Amino acid sequence: EKKRNYWGKKEKVLGKREKVLEKDSPRPALQLQLGHRALGCCCKGPAPLTPGSLLAEDGDFLALDLGGTNFRVLRVRVSDNGLQKVEMESQIYEIHEDLMRGSGAQLFDHIAECLANFMEKLKIKDKKLPLGFTFSFPCHQTKLDESILVTWTKGFKSPDFDIDIVAVVNDTVGTMMTCGYDDHNCEVGLIVGTGTNACYMEEMRHIDLVEGDEGRMCINMEWGAFGDDGALNDIRTEFDHEIDMGSLNPGKQLFEKMISGMYMGELVRLILVKMAKEGLLFRGKLTSDLRTTGSGWFFAHEILTKLGLEPSHEDCLATHRICQIVSTRSANLCGATLAAVLRRIKENKGVDRLRSTVGVDGSVYKKHPHFARRLHKTVRKLLPDCEIRFVRSEDGSGKGAAMVTAVAYRLAAHQE
Ligand code: BG6
Ligand code: GLC
Repeated sequence: EKKRNYWGKKEKVLGKREKVLEKDSPRPALQLQLGHRALGCCCKGPAPLTPGSLLAEDGDFLALDLGGTNFRVLRVRVSDNGLQKVEMESQIYEIHEDLMRGSGAQLFDHIAECLANFMEKLKIKDKKLPLGFTFSFPCHQTKLDESILVTWTKGFKSPDFDIDIVAVVNDTVGTMMTCGYDDHNCEVGLIVGTGTNACYMEEMRHIDLVEGDEGRMCINMEWGAFGDDGALNDIRTEFDHEIDMGSLNPGKQLFEKMISGMYMGELVRLILVKMAKEGLLFRGKLTSDLRTTGSGWFFAHEILTKLGLEPSHEDCLATHRICQIVSTRSANLCGATLAAVLRRIKENKGVDRLRSTVGVDGSVYKKHPHFARRLHKTVRKLLPDCEIRFVRSEDGSGKGAAMVTAVAYRLAAHQE
C-alpha cells in the first residue's frame, strides 16, 4: 500500500519491516525533556537522569512514533553481554486525515489497533511489554510518563486526549538520543519535516524550575512556536499571514509555518496566485486547481500543465525561482536559529572553539535536494569559530524513545 507524502512522492506504508543491528554501540547519554513552548521560556519538568542511570534494561520494548509523515510501531530488543546491542523491527501504518481531525478516542483506538496488529504479527500479543511513545507535539511534561498536550500542530486537531505510558518523548529528543548513540558529542536534535523543532542540552544551573545545579538536561524548545508573541512580525510577509489565517491553528506555530514541509508548497502556490492575478505569470490566467489550497509542486512545467495552465518557458523559470526563494528562506531561517542555539551551548561551555554534533531527521532535510547544504552553509557562516557535525538519524526517533523507556524501566526496577 502506498501513500502520497507532501512532496507528492509515493511512500510505502504497510508491510515494511526494518531491521537494524548495532554492535558495540556506546550507551546514550540519557537526559529527559522539559515541555517547552518557545525559545527561552521554561516550565516545570522532570528531574534529569544522572549518568549513573544510563544503563538500559535488557529485554524487549515497544515504541510508538506519532507526529511525522508516518506513524510507526516498533519493537526494540536490547541485549547486553558487556556490549550493548540493539535490534529493531518496525512497521509503518497509515493515519487517514479524518482520524487526524476526529475525536481523540478514535485516533487512539486506531493506534491501539495498529499496536495489536503489530504484536500479533510478531507473535508477542500475550506479552506485557513496556512502551515508549515519541509524541511529536507540544506538551507540558511533568514526569517522564506524564505529558499533557498543549496544542495540536501539523494538521492534527483531535479533541480529548489522555494516555498513560512508560515514557513520552518528543521526536527531537528521540532523534538526539538515536544519533547520540554513535556520536557522544551529539547535544542537539533537529527536525525539519512536516513540522520543525529542536532540542539541546542546557546546563542545569540555568534551569530555575528544576532543582539542582549539576549536569545538563535536555530542553525541547518547540521552536516552531517562535514568533507567536510577535517576535517575527518584521519578517513575516503577506503570504505568511495568509497561510496562518487559513490554517487549523491560526496565530500558532508561526516560525514553523515559514519553514516546514507542510507549508512550503502552499507558500509557493500563494505567491503564484498573486503574480498571476497581477498579470505577471501565465498571461494572467488562473485555474481553479491553482486556486485550490494544498495543490503540490514538483517539476514546474509538468505541474503547471497538470493544473490546467499553459506555462511559457518564462513562467516555468519564475515558478522554479519562487520555489528556490521559499526553500532558501526556510533553510536560512532554520540555520540562523540553530546557530543561536549552538552559540548558547558554546557560551555555556566557555570554550574558544565548539565541537558539537547535531542529530537531524525529517523529510525536508533528507529529501529536499538543496535544503541540507544551505542549512549547513548558514550555520557555518554564522559560527566560524565552531566545528559542527550534522548526523542524519537513519532509525527515526522511535529507537531513541525505546531506549529512554529501557533506561527508565531499569531505574524503576531498581527503585522497587
Ligand atoms: C521521523 C521520526 O524519523 O522523522 C518522527 O521518527 C518525526 O517522529 C519525523 O516526526 C519527522 O519527519 P517527517 O518529515 O515525517 O515529518
Ligand atoms: C511540531 C511539534 C513539535 C515537533 C515538530 C517536528 O512543531 O509541535 O513537537 O517536534 O513539529 O515534528
